[in-house]
Amino acid sequence: MASERLRTRTVWPIIVLLLAIVLAFFTIRVLTDAPNIAAGVVPEDGYERRYAEHPLIAYAHIVPGVIYIVGAPFQLSRRFREANVHRHRLLGRVLLPAGLLAGVFGVAFGVPYSFGGITEATAAAAFGSWFVVALLLAYRAIRAGDVTAHRRWMIRAFAIGLAAGTIRIWIGLFQGFGVLSFEDSFGPAFWLGFGLHAVVAELYLARRPGVGREVVRTA
Ligand code: HEM
Repeated sequence: MASERLRTRTVWPIIVLLLAIVLAFFTIRVLTDAPNIAAGVVPEDGYERRYAEHPLIAYAHIVPGVIYIVGAPFQLSRRFREANVHRHRLLGRVLLPAGLLAGVFGVAFGVPYSFGGITEATAAAAFGSWFVVALLLAYRAIRAGDVTAHRRWMIRAFAIGLAAGTIRIWIGLFQGFGVLSFEDSFGPAFWLGFGLHAVVAELYLARRPGVGREVVRTA
């Protein structure tokens, strides 16, 4: 019980911090791109240019991604779920397609137009696919009435989605300590950010084989 409380006290603040980072970069992205796209201007800067040149693919990733990442914590919160079983199902019908779109278009943008070259592109392909597979398996599990498997796959998917925030921290660290240039930091940051989250999710689930069993009432 005490370790459960400690987990709640540490995990949720980390989730909120990473969400805040994602939302901050989302806001900067929109404020940067909107004037360029509205005026039909393609900036010279190599980083910004891809978003102005391919806004449909970029925003078909970013907008559903933000919807998914803001809504998913409610779905994962036991308190919310148990008090709002009907809302959990309704929200799931929005968040699942949003997550799938974010994953598919993350790959569609990140593979051909990656700023960090082949290293970033391979990470986008690998973890974008893992994210989509986890969401699909979570859906298949709940259709089969397997709440435990549903919740465990959703935790895996959310861990990958939340790495969108951790990646920005790695990019900041690489640049802040002068280890890598802005461009060169993208590939390693993608692998470290996604990889770390995938591993932490597996460790979390391995130590809690009962995760999901407590929520049978949402089935
Ligand atoms: C589901 C939660 C996610 C959210 C909210 C999200 C959000 C964002 C945002 C706001 C950006 C723009 C970043 C910036 O301007 O600094 C971005 C870029 C990107 N995201 Fe995501 N993302 C998510 C998941 C993913 C996943 C699972 C992948 C894996 C394919 C991915 C791949 C990418 C790529 C490749 C870029 C472009 C990076 C670049 O400029 O080279 N994202 N995302």
